Amino acid sequence: MDSDELQTATGAGADRRTTKLAVVGAGAVGATVAYAALMRGAARTVALYDVNHAKVEAEALDLGHGIQFMPMAEVVGSDDIAVCADADVVVVTAGAKQKPGQTRLDLAEATIGLTRDLLPRLVEVAPDAVFVMVTNPVDIVTYAALQLSGLPPARMFGSGTVLDSSRLRYLVAQHTGVAVHNVHAYMVGEHGDSEFPLWSSAAIGGVPLLEWRGSRSAGPLTPAVRDRIARQVIDSAYQIIAGKGATNYAVALAASRIIEAVLKDERRVMPVSSLLDGYHGIHEVCLSVPTVVGRGGADRQLEVPMSSDEEADLRRSAEALRAVARRFGF
Ligand code: 2OP
Repeated sequence: MDSDELQTATGAGADRRTTKLAVVGAGAVGATVAYAALMRGAARTVALYDVNHAKVEAEALDLGHGIQFMPMAEVVGSDDIAVCADADVVVVTAGAKQKPGQTRLDLAEATIGLTRDLLPRLVEVAPDAVFVMVTNPVDIVTYAALQLSGLPPARMFGSGTVLDSSRLRYLVAQHTGVAVHNVHAYMVGEHGDSEFPLWSSAAIGGVPLLEWRGSRSAGPLTPAVRDRIARQVIDSAYQIIAGKGATNYAVALAASRIIEAVLKDERRVMPVSSLLDGYHGIHEVCLSVPTVVGRGGADRQLEVPMSSDEEADLRRSAEALRAVARRFGF
């Protein structure tokens, strides 16, 4: 290896940006978030933290060995929480694993216990970070983390339905034969069974989705087609977990896109899960609605016009989440 290659491999001599991402949990989701963030060049330093010493060191080593083929970065892994020190963004993926047949809400007890233990320690080492919760049930975990941390709501939010919205766009794109990038549609509410699509404001290449006429190969998006697509979005995680035991790629890409929106101050509209305080008359619950995400975190929720059915569905989703949070004393 010549000296240039050596410098590239070790990071020595490289132009240093100050961006640091800490990923908490080196399981399938955490390791894939780190991989996706590195591939996208989202942060200059990626720190992995997990209580499993052998696993976290091995994941960091494996990722580090690939840096030559990715945008320049450094990867560190440790079972010492100090590895997260002074991170700009902390992404929390650690938690109980959803088993086939379990809902995300079934994980609440285990993950809230972990959040109680972990959150104050993470805030202590990275007091200025923007925290992105990915652990399920993400809306409940985000609300609990907010109470436990005392952080401003903009700096503590969840990945929410960013992933579900990409599943929705994928299915609409498949039906209509239009690129997924030209489908604008959001899943909102709980990242879970009570979520639903905002069909009334969805659009395909500027055409309101509800006015989409169809083409020679596929019919219009009738109520029956829309219901089938919404059901498929809700069932996606169950289907993938039944087949391979976990979901990791799409959730990690969604998380790394959120990380980038924060670190690059993109002010990108994403349906992250954040505290609602009067949004469409809803208070004291974390759930997903289109939100402007930038360096300050979840800066501003967009008051998207909703049909009366959509408003009622949002209220129902909020109530379902509030009931679970209350059960755990939040
Ligand atoms: C997902 O939706 C399980 O929440 C995870 O893929």
